[in-house]
Order: sequence, then C-alpha cells, then structure tokens
Amino acid sequence: MFPPLEIRGGRGSYQTIMQTYKIAVLAGDGIGPEVMTEAVKVLKNVEKLESIRFEFEEALVGGAAYEAHKKPLPESTLKLAQDADSVLLGAVGGPKWEPLDYSVRPERALLGLRSELGLFANLRPALVFPALVDASTLKREVIEGIDLMVVRELTGGIYFGKPRGVTTNADGSQVGVNTLTYATYEIERIARVAFELARKRRKKVTSIDKANVLETTELWRQVVTRIHEAHYRDIELSHMYVDNCAMQLIRNPKQFDVLLTDNLFGDILSDAAAMLTGSIGMLASASLNETAKGMYEPVHGSAPDIAGQGKANPIATILSAAMMLDYSFGERKSAMRIYKAVEEVLKKGIRTGDIFTAGNQLVSTSQMGDAVVKELNV
Ligand code: IPM
Ligand code: MG
Repeated sequence: MFPPLEIRGGRGSYQTIMQTYKIAVLAGDGIGPEVMTEAVKVLKNVEKLESIRFEFEEALVGGAAYEAHKKPLPESTLKLAQDADSVLLGAVGGPKWEPLDYSVRPERALLGLRSELGLFANLRPALVFPALVDASTLKREVIEGIDLMVVRELTGGIYFGKPRGVTTNADGSQVGVNTLTYATYEIERIARVAFELARKRRKKVTSIDKANVLETTELWRQVVTRIHEAHYRDIELSHMYVDNCAMQLIRNPKQFDVLLTDNLFGDILSDAAAMLTGSIGMLASASLNETAKGMYEPVHGSAPDIAGQGKANPIATILSAAMMLDYSFGERKSAMRIYKAVEEVLKKGIRTGDIFTAGNQLVSTSQMGDAVVKELNV
C-alpha cells in the first residue's frame, strides 16, 4: 500500500548489527502531544521486534516553547534537532498564540527548522486506503486508486523571499510586501528529487507554475525543462498552471503521479490532495535535505478544537514515523511492518472520528495506537 520510495540509501540499509537512531521528538501544540505519544508507542514496539534501537529526545517547539522560553524555536530545541539522526514533529500553533507578533508565532518554529536544517524537499504522498474510499467527500470512482506524491520546495519562494514585511508610508497608509524568488540551483535540486521519485513510481512529473503571469515561475518552467532534457528523458514531463491543477485535482486526480511545486503552491495543493483521500488525519510527510536526515510530520495541523479529548487520529504521525525509518534510516522492513499494521487496522474497521463511517468501531487516539501495536506482531 505504501510503496517504498527510497531516493537515498539510509545509513542502516544493509547492516545486520544493531543500529541505534537518535530521534528528536518535538510534539508541539494542540493534538501534537497526543498523536506523538502513539507514534512513539509504535516505535518502541518496533524495537522489540526488529534489531534496531531508538533514543528519543524530547524538546518543546511552537506555542509550548513560547510559553516556557518566549521563543517558538529555542536554541536548545534547534540544537537537539541538529544533533539527532532525524526529527519527528507533531504540530504547532493554536488560537492562543494568534495575537502574538509574527516573529514569535508558533509557525515560525516550523519555518526555522526547515531553513536551519536545509530541508528543501517536502514529500507529501496522498494515497487512498481501499478501506477508506467511502470516507472521502468525492465519489468512489474519482478517488479509488489515487496514488500521488506532492514534491514541494520548502526553503525558498515567497515564504522566505526578501524584501518582506509591512511598512507605513509618509501619509500613514500601509503597504505589505512579500517576494517570490527562486535561484536556479533551488529549482534544479527540487526538480531532481521529483524526477528521481518518479523513476521509482509511474514515471510522470507534472510541474506546477503560473508562468503566464509570474516571471519567477517562468524561470521555474525553463529550469525544470532543462533538467528533464539533460537527465530524465525517460520520465514524462508536463507543465500545468496552478489554477488548472487545483481544478484537475478535484476533477480527475488519478492523472497525477508526481506533482512538482514551489513552496506556496505546494502548501495549497497538498491540502487539497490530502483531502481527496478521505481525511487529512491519515497523511504523513517527509522534509529532506541532501543528507540522510529528515523531519517527519503529519500533514494535519494542531487541531485545537479537538485537542486533549482523545479524538485525534494518530495514523498520520505513525506513518510519518514509518517514513522516517524508510527514508532516513533505510530500515525498510520495520517501515513496512508499520504500513501493514495500519492497513490491517483499517481493514478491521477500527476508526477514529475523522474516518468513521456507520458500521465501524469508533476508537480513541490511544486505542488506535494500541490497535496498530497489536498488528505489528502479526
Ligand atoms: C504546512 C503548514 C505550514 C506551511 C504552516 C503551519 C507554516 O501549512 O506545513 O503545510 O504553510 O508550510
Ligand atoms: Mg499547509
């Protein structure tokens, strides 16, 4: 169900000796801590079944870190993330911190981690679990069999471009500025990630831009085309305007294999792609740099409305942990154990509220974690 997509060999892939991996556990805010507890529970049980060991090191991030240190990404948290083999992140943010100045909002922690760790490639797979086809708001025939991957550039574009900010003119009126910049090397490296992934999948890349209006994305299109012609002629490349892509995702999502996008378009389109699959509570993501290190997190946010009630679906975080084993550690067997366990749980009709349909068994966050653990041994 979750095709292994090795784009780099993890460091443990062919070793038989016991590997120990240091994982920075940044649970964050809202439902973050609840879903993280379940993912760590699953990893601790994987340790019992496979010859790998994890060292979990926890630190505060986001609003929780702001409460303790007046900063969403304290130096100690960043250092822990830098020193770990990989980072597992829950979610950040919530209404409590919305009035704060932009520079200390919880979301800044995410952006800080992304840029400090150089995590330029964000992989967001959207695939439909057969058992969940009826949980989607779209018709069965439109979504059955969707398996697409959003490859989103994560450390450039309008999220980071300068100048930025809001200034006040002499007459007292205000002007807001954000800048969409991309250097050639930034486009090249993310394009390569998309093409390499496509080679392991259905060999199709759709590159998203707004080249009819924005010069930066015209450059994007030219660079992607050049990389394709030079190195990836075996891959089918097409270009699509972002507005059309939004429409096509809802009209006929099965046409897509790998979607290559800039930072902002990827933010928007990956939420749309996620929802096709029934629930955003199911989707994992990986943010990678050029080393084996990555940051893994559920695509859903902190969901403050259901926080602390045991209602959250921990599967996205559990699958993020599996992606970490697969992509960063090269522990494919352990990763597959988790993927299969999740699949089994869903087949048995065990459901948190977000994916519940009549006739199934409604469970809490921790019961879902327990159900996955139970299937690991099978
Ligand atoms: C995401 C989120 C973040 C983003 C926010 C929380 C900063 O929406 O990871 O998609 O916009 O990148
Ligand atoms: Mg988003």
